[in-house]
Amino acid sequence: MTFDIDFVRAQFPAFETPALAGQAFFENAGGSYTCRQVVDRLTRFYTERKVQPYAPYEASRLAGAEMDEARRRLAAMLGVETDELSFGPSTTANTYVLAQAFAGMLGDGDAIVVTDQDHEANSGPWRRLADRGIEVREWQVNRETGSLETAALEALLDDRVRLVCFPHCSNVLGEINDVAAICRIAHAAGAVACVDGVSYVPHGLPDVGALGADIYLFSAYKTYGPHQGIMTIRRELGERLPNQAHHFNGDTLYKRFTPAGPDHAQVAACAGIADYVDALHHHHGGGEAPPRARAAAVSKLMRAQEIALLQPILDDLKDRNAVRLLGPADAARRAPTVALALEVAGEEMAARLAPHNVMAGGGDFYAQRPLAAVGVDPAHGVLRLSFVHYTSAAEVERAMSALDQLL
Ligand SMILES: Cc1ncc(COP(=O)(O)O)c(C=O)c1O
Repeated sequence: MTFDIDFVRAQFPAFETPALAGQAFFENAGGSYTCRQVVDRLTRFYTERKVQPYAPYEASRLAGAEMDEARRRLAAMLGVETDELSFGPSTTANTYVLAQAFAGMLGDGDAIVVTDQDHEANSGPWRRLADRGIEVREWQVNRETGSLETAALEALLDDRVRLVCFPHCSNVLGEINDVAAICRIAHAAGAVACVDGVSYVPHGLPDVGALGADIYLFSAYKTYGPHQGIMTIRRELGERLPNQAHHFNGDTLYKRFTPAGPDHAQVAACAGIADYVDALHHHHGGGEAPPRARAAAVSKLMRAQEIALLQPILDDLKDRNAVRLLGPADAARRAPTVALALEVAGEEMAARLAPHNVMAGGGDFYAQRPLAAVGVDPAHGVLRLSFVHYTSAAEVERAMSALDQLL
């Protein structure tokens, strides 16, 4: 069955509300619209289950069961064990806690690798380990293309390197990195790999188990869900890293790196992301299949739709004199997160698009290091037009013709 955009958009209340009517949304990489399944679960939790979970009375039992369901179903879709998946307030908070854990495990003589392609969330907390005597090595992008090349990583690795942190996809350059290959290189050198999947997962739930990422992070609020950070940690590593939670929670793998009490309602509502994936699978003719296979089939559908809309945009933008397109011009190699360096500052161009009913963002998107690395002044910033599978061809047409007029 071909991708049914009407069905897809019907799953998002934002497309039906008068408050947003006529607005074309192009800041999805900042935070996506929320699917109906998540909104419904959140509403049900707040109205029917807003009690302390995991107690013996019925409302509480249901609250706890829904929180467990979210972990179980998302873990199965990502190809990891249920207790290898945990929730935190955001990806930034999750990497902060993980960095504290690594600080407790590593010491003098140890080294880690970070990139200059990452959003600050998977960079700054790790770089601060230098204050604890850990050597921090920077895997730098190619200054011309913005790509992370594996030869440059290999040149940084030796038996002192214990951890390699890198993005699945940059939030300004858009390029999709070969996570499996990079994890293999890190593992061969005796290091573990921490992958920021925030800019990738809205475009398809990956098989984290098969990719080989020891830690994989993403943000539910950019993946059609509530404002939560989700991370997977491979059991062996999670058990080895020092516990960051209350001492009595240290024996439970999924609690070890969540020092904050969980946001019960939002954790429970994350099961709605799995509902949404299942609804797309079912509607597009998917039969009986295990969760990971359903997620893979839906990811393929989403990507095909995005690539079909993205390639003409890239073809249009790549040769314009007034525009510098960041990242690859081949849609298959990147996410539809399109950052443009223009004569006008990024924020100013976003403001000029607003009267055309195009909701876009401008600035540095907390990606100051990658922007500077490819020669864009972060203070000047970029215009970012980011979309996902639910974006329609008409919305793309609106954004491109508005941009055309303004240029
Ligand atoms: C690639 C990437 N990583 C990490 C983050 C931080 O995520 P959070 O807001 O959940 O801390 C963002 C947010 O924009 C991002 O785009």
